[in-house]
Amino acid sequence: MDGKMTSSSKPIYKQIAELIEQRIRSGEFGPGSFLPSERSLAKELHVNRSTIVAAYDELQAAGVVLRKQGSGTVVSRDIWGLARTRVPNWRHLTETGSFRPNLPLIRKIRKETQEHELIDLASGELSPDLVPHESIKQLMKADDFPAHLGYEHSLGNWSLRETLSRHMKTWRNIGAPPTSILVTSGAQQALHLVVQCLLKPGDAVAIEEPSYCYSLPLFHSAGLRTFSLPMDHEGIDPDQLAELHRKHRIKMVFLNPNFQNPTGTLLSLERRMRLLAISAENGIPIIEDDPYSLTAFSNEPVPTLKSLDKHGTVLYISSLTKIVASGLRIGWIVGPQTVIERLADAKQQFDFGHSIFPQWLADRFLQSPDFATHISRLRTQLAIRSDQLFFSLQDQFQDQVKIISPEGGIHLWCSLSGDWSEQRLLTESVKRGVVFVPGHLFGAEKGCVRFTFGRALLEQIPVAISRFAEAYTTSG
Ligand SMILES: Cc1ncc(COP(=O)(O)O)c(C=O)c1O
Repeated sequence: MDGKMTSSSKPIYKQIAELIEQRIRSGEFGPGSFLPSERSLAKELHVNRSTIVAAYDELQAAGVVLRKQGSGTVVSRDIWGLARTRVPNWRHLTETGSFRPNLPLIRKIRKETQEHELIDLASGELSPDLVPHESIKQLMKADDFPAHLGYEHSLGNWSLRETLSRHMKTWRNIGAPPTSILVTSGAQQALHLVVQCLLKPGDAVAIEEPSYCYSLPLFHSAGLRTFSLPMDHEGIDPDQLAELHRKHRIKMVFLNPNFQNPTGTLLSLERRMRLLAISAENGIPIIEDDPYSLTAFSNEPVPTLKSLDKHGTVLYISSLTKIVASGLRIGWIVGPQTVIERLADAKQQFDFGHSIFPQWLADRFLQSPDFATHISRLRTQLAIRSDQLFFSLQDQFQDQVKIISPEGGIHLWCSLSGDWSEQRLLTESVKRGVVFVPGHLFGAEKGCVRFTFGRALLEQIPVAISRFAEAYTTSG
């Protein structure tokens, strides 16, 4: 092992894992042979033993070695066998594909929430008691399920699209015939389709800062250049879009103007009108990503950009994730027929169209009188949870916290004073059974945190914030 390890930006344990793998590949350590003990290798390489443990864990996860309690680390016979040169380097393949992985911290948060019982102030979805389980169970007992389980129409199930067309008129003041709607696997797939079909590597796009973290790798995988539109308490400043366009010829702008993820802000009406004017003057398409407008605590309808769009510059995306259930994976996109058909053709290539089961259920639920009752209850419950989170934070942090108080959505954004480390705070918080999302994952400056109040139960929120406050005191 040589001194090249320290010059790379890769963590040392990964570099060590790769070197060991190379030595196995070259035959230096044959199938079934023992690798050096953790202690001796740590000494040889002048690193902590924990670094070697991490390197061996990594190799074990890749199936390259087997670790036996008390007897050491052995090169796997299964994977290397006798014909070792035929084993593909899976790790290398996973690291060099063109589609980017999520940031390591996002993967860590997801793993924590999937594998441990934590109070979840991180996942952008509803808690089980906010999902309309009873209504859905009743609907599933119905005996009018369409018998033919063939591929669906490439735009999505016809009946669901008719229902969505009526739903958008009634609930969002948006006129859209079924032929201009494409049903997608959540809003996420709609964003992906737009990026893949309407943009090409090198194109400049404008996004909010901070903005929705799961769309960032999508943009970068597609080779797009992203330019930021800073947010204040009324959303983005449209004149900054005009400025960016002059400098970089912005091809498209991606906005989440209604109770934005992560800041919870609502773009003011004045700015909406100005934004639409700038978009029409310069021919810049707006992607309005709107999973949250129906969660307005006030019951006041939100004037979506699409409902104000006189010139046809807005593509509108929404989903049932934040208002019914994330697991249904029902989203949709509305736009000119040529665009919708182009996206549908791509979706067909990706997955041969959406499964009929969730489409049928979504169709039935949106048509049922339970939908309105559910939305009304959801709004009230989300407002109560948001208040609870707000007061718990104030109670624990007093003047050390600055909060943007949301008027809808499921997220609350705040900044905490002091010189604390985001990584440390997350680790300490997880140790105490609470998970949240540090602000830099959304592209924000240091010092901010996003808490989701829709996922945890109401009574868990004060408990979680008190434990979080304890973690904060150890993270300076
Ligand atoms: C702004 C925004 N867009 C899109 C999505 C994706 O949601 P889904 O694909 O579940 O509809 C989310 C989920 O967190 C979101 O917050």
